[in-house]
Amino acid sequence: MARVIDGRALARKLDERTAQVVAKLLDDRGIKPGLAVVLVGDDPASEIYVAHKVKACLRVGIESFKHRLPASVSQQDLLALVARLNHDPKVHGILVQVPLPRHIDPSAILGAIDPAKDVDGFHPVNVGRLSTGTGGLVPCTPLGVMMLLDSVVDEIKGMSAVVIGKSNIVGKPIAMLLLEREATVTVTHIATRGLPDIARQADIIIAAAGVPRLVRGFWVKAGAVVIDVGITRVSGASGERDILVGDIAIDEMNHAGAVTPVPGGVGPMTIACLLANTVKAAKESG
Ligand code: GUN
Repeated sequence: MARVIDGRALARKLDERTAQVVAKLLDDRGIKPGLAVVLVGDDPASEIYVAHKVKACLRVGIESFKHRLPASVSQQDLLALVARLNHDPKVHGILVQVPLPRHIDPSAILGAIDPAKDVDGFHPVNVGRLSTGTGGLVPCTPLGVMMLLDSVVDEIKGMSAVVIGKSNIVGKPIAMLLLEREATVTVTHIATRGLPDIARQADIIIAAAGVPRLVRGFWVKAGAVVIDVGITRVSGASGERDILVGDIAIDEMNHAGAVTPVPGGVGPMTIACLLANTVKAAKESG
């Protein structure tokens, strides 16, 4: 049976460390870290994510500022809010939940956030820093994935890693982080030909395509570490609750070395890393 990595336990440990840094920042410098979360429209999934993020702030002593705007808000008004938050000394981190309504250009909004407050790590300056290995704020899910890997792998250097998914939020930054640690990285996606054969070569598989149960048992070599970033909500049978399904067929992973479950794997680490990024931004402020 593959080892199941407990993302909730690892996230709790990180939160404990974050809470300690929050207390020290307040004691030493009188700074209370603050995170502004901006939610545009009423996408139910985004509402749940934002609620989790705000609640998590409370747990570690970060002040949260929630801004809810109607789906009809203009790009200009949203930019004006971002500019206000950029200048607000109580706000150390800014997160604009995506997806945004279709009439708003996400790159205009994300590019307007002060890179020093960009706790999502989506601003081109932070993307550039990540790809050149020169610091900056790193996107939360990729950061969480690396911590999950480090909890089961002694040395990533020299390992072969296959990333499935090429998104700006997950696939590309994870590839950069793995490369920085001297893994041999292959970035693939759902249009990649011969994907099962490529995946089967890997010591590490990161599944981030958003396709439920894409990665089957025969795609995975014995002992490989498989990290599941996919979360798809699938309607339950009549009267049953919806269920969350990952990108890996976890019931076919007995021969793997370690796997992350969905839920309870990458998700909790993403939120814990958001809090850690907010505290990092607060620490480096002023
Ligand atoms: N929507 C889904 N994941 C994320 C995330 O990590 N950050 C933001 N801002 N929006 C998201």
